Amino acid sequence: MADKARTARMEKIVALCKRRGFIFQSSEIYGGLNGFWDYGPLGVELKRNVRQAWWNDMVVANDPLFVQAGAPQGFSIVGIETSIIMHPQVWKVSGHYDLFADKMVDCKEVKGRYRLDHVKGRWVTGKLVPKEGAAPAASDEEWFITTTVDGPEAEEAIAKRAGKILGVKSNELNKLQWKGNVTSLATVPVAKFTHVVAPEVNNPATLTDPRDFNLMFETYTGALQSDENKAFLRPETAQGMFVNFKNVCDSTRVKVPFGIAQIGKSFRNEITPRNFTFRSREFEQMEMEFFCHPSESQQWYSYWRDRRFNWYFKHGLKKENMILREHEKSELAHYSVGTADIEYAFPFLDDGEYGELEGVAHRGDFDLRSHAEGKLDKNLQVEKNADGQPKYRGSGENLTYFDDQTRERFVPHVIEPAAGCDRATLAFLCEAYCEDEAPDDKGEMQSRVVMRFHPRLAPIKAAVFPLVKKDGQPEKALEIYQALKEAGIAATYDAQAAIGKRYRRMDEAGTPWCITVDNDTIKDGTVTVRDRDTLKQDRLPASELVSELSQRLRK
Ligand code: GAP
Repeated sequence: MADKARTARMEKIVALCKRRGFIFQSSEIYGGLNGFWDYGPLGVELKRNVRQAWWNDMVVANDPLFVQAGAPQGFSIVGIETSIIMHPQVWKVSGHYDLFADKMVDCKEVKGRYRLDHVKGRWVTGKLVPKEGAAPAASDEEWFITTTVDGPEAEEAIAKRAGKILGVKSNELNKLQWKGNVTSLATVPVAKFTHVVAPEVNNPATLTDPRDFNLMFETYTGALQSDENKAFLRPETAQGMFVNFKNVCDSTRVKVPFGIAQIGKSFRNEITPRNFTFRSREFEQMEMEFFCHPSESQQWYSYWRDRRFNWYFKHGLKKENMILREHEKSELAHYSVGTADIEYAFPFLDDGEYGELEGVAHRGDFDLRSHAEGKLDKNLQVEKNADGQPKYRGSGENLTYFDDQTRERFVPHVIEPAAGCDRATLAFLCEAYCEDEAPDDKGEMQSRVVMRFHPRLAPIKAAVFPLVKKDGQPEKALEIYQALKEAGIAATYDAQAAIGKRYRRMDEAGTPWCITVDNDTIKDGTVTVRDRDTLKQDRLPASELVSELSQRLRK
């Protein structure tokens, strides 16, 4: 698909999300707040279903008494819900306090702040149009013209800016002399920043050198706003599992290998939130820490990587839109022996580019050892101050595991599948969006927008319509509607407008089944069930609807 078509598709998805109540900008009536989003009535159901599908697969479905396909052995995974604000030492020991930073640059002229790798630019040769009153530049030089426009549109945005900055008319932009392709500002050596034209200005050399910017939101506990009371909103849910490892072992009968799972909000003060909900400042994570014997960790790493990749297909993402990307050795965190990203071809990215949905990481014993002994350094030794004391003290608790069968005591290794609930929800929205044709009331084909969600993820499973508002049909339809609701099947009732229009409303909401009550229903108790995707209409006894739909939802 051409790049412009991808952008247009994304724009339509964002518009539908607002129009139908999937996702709204946070605090929209006050102009919105960058990086924060609200889920509307349809969106909140969709996201709840994503969460539930993850929890069912990660927590409910497993037990040490049976072995899942492809797993080395049976195991249990228990759930947990930990606080968003944790002891500040957690973040010092985990490394987030020192290391959880992005490189950013400031523009001295417009006071703008940008994440280094989010500024895109291209080298071009030309003579800068001088500022009013200044002498014209003597010779042609190379300039790195930048933009914060992302994805397919970046090249065009840079070309337009270059034309303006170098005084080239819009119909002569093809005469510009480019060197190389669009690339990130992160590839430009700092010594050459004097030749960089920042995104919102028309003159060079206004950017500062790159600096580290810690992404953790700070707050204070209690009345005093002093350094001793400083706390952080958690940037990941994972640490909640590590610091409760001992509590879970002591309070349950779990045996290694086992997992602890959590779904919850995390916060990162992203410098440039972007791409709808993809990079937000407040988002939800679905993380699981799987504790296993070090000698089996490689096997478990492969198992979780493949199982998590397959989970997305089972819920509707197409294989051709996804990749599993194993990190190069140089990309790995210092404690990791393997990490794979599960990525999706979001339409806001260029053709052939993918965005991360989930990371599956082998974390070794880094986290448990750090929380026991103190923050570890690159050599997995406790990092020390000049006086030989640990830089950040651990808890001093014994975070080892004793296997009472083998009589071995060890620090378990950890495999961590870490997914983003909002990113998964966004991917399911993008995949579901489809434009096709369906017959109207007269049987003529008309275009429609249909959200082809997996039925288990669909916000509404069934819509019940009386064909006409008389002859006892509304009463019968309401009876069916109530029975579905009482059985826990998310349903809606609609008696307004022509039937074709009602189908279209439900197609846009992604409702898999529309149930129509007509004259025959009154005579023989059967209804029509129209399938959103095949458009086939089956006739079924109304009394069998609850069991029929429940069965279809289990598939
Ligand atoms: N405990 C490991 C960890 O947090 P991560 O790759 O930083 O790893 C895991 O985050 C997942 O959380 C990502 O794959 C992504 O789906 C989601 N995520 C991370 N930052 C996000 C953001 N700013 N907005 C939305 N989702 C985000």
